[in-house]
Amino acid sequence: MVAKIIDGKAVAAAEREDCKRRVARLRQAGGRSPGLAVIMVGDNAASAVYVRNKIRACQDVGIWSEQLFYPATVTQSEICDKIRECGRDPSIDGILVQLPLPPSFDLEEVLGAIDAEKDVDGFHLYNVGGLVIGNTVFPPCTPYGVMRLLEHEGIEVSGRNAVVVGASNIVGKPMALMLMQREATVSVCHAKTRDLGEFTRLADLLVVAAGHPSLISASMVKPGAWSMWASTGCPMARLVGDCDFEGVRAQASYLTPVPGGVGPMTVTMLLVNTIKSAERALGLVPGAKAAEPMPAL
Ligand code: GUN
Repeated sequence: MVAKIIDGKAVAAAEREDCKRRVARLRQAGGRSPGLAVIMVGDNAASAVYVRNKIRACQDVGIWSEQLFYPATVTQSEICDKIRECGRDPSIDGILVQLPLPPSFDLEEVLGAIDAEKDVDGFHLYNVGGLVIGNTVFPPCTPYGVMRLLEHEGIEVSGRNAVVVGASNIVGKPMALMLMQREATVSVCHAKTRDLGEFTRLADLLVVAAGHPSLISASMVKPGAWSMWASTGCPMARLVGDCDFEGVRAQASYLTPVPGGVGPMTVTMLLVNTIKSAERALGLVPGAKAAEPMPAL
């Protein structure tokens, strides 16, 4: 068997065309483009690459971005004040705080300062809670992108065994919740999992976001499995996935490459969430509560 390589770039490009149409509709309806505030603290090289890609993608579809870059010496209260100011600014629809923050920052407090109605990363506890009950407004972008790729390929996950390798708040945990919501039987493996291959070999769908290059060898993949790889925590100079690509390719039925698989979808789903936020603010989405902002935590 040779796996079909899922072209995340092509799926992302099609989704971005749809984003452009939605932005045009918003301009007609509300007279303004959606806005995204991008906050970065410090000079983490990987974060700088991610943020640059996000800003470029915004420009590409007509979302304007306010770039708020701070040195690592900035205080947490300055950052939280700025985040709250963005929350009050009607021209800003999405607020993104690029992670990681410097170690001295209290992550929960910073994320809690984001207006949950503008939490386009889906990291605020309000949206995390929504995800747990299967009804979040802003699904976190990387797992959301994986779900969109599965949908695009017509892969039905209901009743399948899904194994997620990596239990981060950004990817692994929300991924598991989204798959559970779609009726998969989900196992989550992490750094302390013993006999990782015993789990991964059970997977019809294997999602790897562990940040260890070549963690998964071909012998750890069930023949015919669908394998999705997110390149978390890898050195940005040379983007690599968590897999023995050629070995797994000979074993799986679908495989996402790194780069060009899940990565472009992550950025694209951020655009989708930002546009959705603007549509909600204008009351263009059924069920949106534009006049009732969620409480800040
Ligand atoms: N750092 C790594 N991935 C992400 C992400 O999806 N969003 C934010 N804000 N920071 C990240």
